[in-house]
Amino acid sequence: MLLVFLACAGGGPSDGGEAPVLTEGPVRERSRGLEEDLARTRAFHDARPRTETPLGVGTDLPDGLSSLSAASCGGCHPAIYQEWRLSTHAAAWRDRQYQAELGKSGNRWLCLNCHTPLLVQQDLWPVDLVDGDVERPVLVPNPAFDASLRSEGITCAACHVREGMIHGPGLGGEAPHPVVTDPDFRSEALCLRCHQAVATYPGKDFVCTFETGTEWRDGPWDDEGVGCASCHMPAVERPAAVDGPTRTVRRHWWRGAGIPKDAEGHPPEAANPPGLRISAEWTERTLRLGLTNARAGHRLPTGDPERWVSVDVVFVDSSGELVGEPWKHRIGQEWTWHPEPVKRADNRLAPRETRQLEVATPTGAVAALIEASSHRMKAEIAAFHHLDDYPLSRVTHRLVVPIAP
Ligand code: HEC
Ligand code: HEC
Ligand code: HEC
Ligand code: HEC
Ligand code: HEC
Repeated sequence: MLLVFLACAGGGPSDGGEAPVLTEGPVRERSRGLEEDLARTRAFHDARPRTETPLGVGTDLPDGLSSLSAASCGGCHPAIYQEWRLSTHAAAWRDRQYQAELGKSGNRWLCLNCHTPLLVQQDLWPVDLVDGDVERPVLVPNPAFDASLRSEGITCAACHVREGMIHGPGLGGEAPHPVVTDPDFRSEALCLRCHQAVATYPGKDFVCTFETGTEWRDGPWDDEGVGCASCHMPAVERPAAVDGPTRTVRRHWWRGAGIPKDAEGHPPEAANPPGLRISAEWTERTLRLGLTNARAGHRLPTGDPERWVSVDVVFVDSSGELVGEPWKHRIGQEWTWHPEPVKRADNRLAPRETRQLEVATPTGAVAALIEASSHRMKAEIAAFHHLDDYPLSRVTHRLVVPIAP
């Protein structure tokens, strides 16, 4: 039997152990009406750690607006809407891997807080935990549930709407909706609400392990004033809204490693080129590789512990045939998940770190072909989740190094 395992970051690889058997799952209760249910779920969340709470409510529409949907914001903010649509944030609910993993455990309510982070986007609200067990929530149906807003994942309102007001960086312009200038939009604070989250659950086979924030703070980019938005939301001169003045504003692309989710499109490579830089040289009868995390403001790779970067080398002889053994270097984390998650190894590149490697060269080789690629998950995990056609990797670099015989 294959096992179900959840990292907060997604399914982890099986190491063949036994998953704990759930004797009972979530408990369902009847709704007591919007006001009482909302008060109960808010009281429940107030007693939970920050990473286990939603970002906002979203039941109260800001004055002047008729809908919270991204498309309706897009009526006046069309450029931002078109970028957001391509982003992984917009796919945070429909993501096929997410859908495959979601709901395999009573911990589903935890996932919703980052992937559909407004209470109005969540179909069931937790109001208690049986015996304090995160996999046995007491759930009530949400009387204000908005399924179409849920399908938008991390939608505009997830970041921008709080208590009936539009929060933003403070453009100082005239908007048809109420605006609150919120310093979180000019710093990393908003991003780290979801991208810096560490939680362990003793006895469970899942963890929450996103440390992009501390990786960035420990590196040089923070000191140089280069934050998340500098790289992931590049600056552009254009109106922020239809008929508004041209301003220096920010793209809403958030390109990461550049592995798309589906055929719906993905932000262009220029939105945030790859983090890795490779130098390769044939000297003193040795192929010398330098692998540098030149552009990622955090570890390479960051985020989901299942991600890795692969550097592969093959050699060819004078007739163009492969010669010798292929060489491979994997940059990433190694976890085992049962009975509890344990990080076994981590050789990711710190920001600006360079790793020097020597590759033995077979006799007869006249060239080394080097390829680097970014990976989302192992093929066997994808097969287990029936994720046919789900894009798993992307080639980022191809180099040819001539070798003197
Ligand atoms: C993941 C969070 C997030 C989401 C989702 C998001 N934004 Fe933003 N938005 C930001 C941040 C952060 C800024 C401020 C960037 C800066 O100025 O440093 C911003 C800025 C803005 C601005 C000011 C002008 C600009 O471009 O800087 C507008 C208008 C805006 N967003 C509208 C939208 C709309 C409309 C959507 C949905 C189509 C959306 N946002 C989705 C985080 C988000
Ligand atoms: C009827 C048109 C209209 C709609 C609909 C609309 N906006 Fe705006 N919004 C504007 C205008 C106009 C501005 C001011 C632009 C400027 O000053 O350059 C603005 C400003 C903003 C700002 C910047 C606030 C700041 O920090 O100064 C944000 C963020 C924003 N809107 C988000 C949204 C979101 C999210 C939605 C959908 C829930 C939305 N808007 C719907 C017209 C609209
Ligand atoms: C509400 C929680 C939340 C907030 C706030 C948030 N993110 Fe994300 N972010 C996510 C989730 C969830 C995903 C992955 C969605 C998926 O893969 O299905 C993601 C994905 C990403 C990616 C990876 C894209 C890819 O294709 O690999 C980048 C880059 C990113 N976010 C940057 C940011 C930045 C910068 C900010 C702050 C402006 C931010 N995020 C704010 C939850 C959030
Ligand atoms: C100096 C530029 C830079 C800064 C600053 C930066 N990033 Fe990144 N980030 C990148 C690059 C480049 C990648 C793509 C790495 C690769 O090639 O796989 C990336 C990838 C990511 C990913 C996708 C996972 C991955 O490894 O591909 C996430 C999520 C992310 N960044 C979030 C953040 C957050 C949150 C912050 C702020 C704490 C931040 N980034 C700051 C450049 C930056
Ligand atoms: C604390 C916020 C948070 C919670 C809670 C959370 N996630 Fe995520 N999730 C993220 C972020 C941030 C990313 C993007 C990281 C990256 O791209 O490396 C992400 C990415 C993902 C991805 C895409 C991975 C990829 O490689 O593209 C899946 C699938 C996923 N999460 C599933 C889940 C499931 C299932 C749960 C509940 C057990 C969950 N998440 C709970 C923040 C969260």
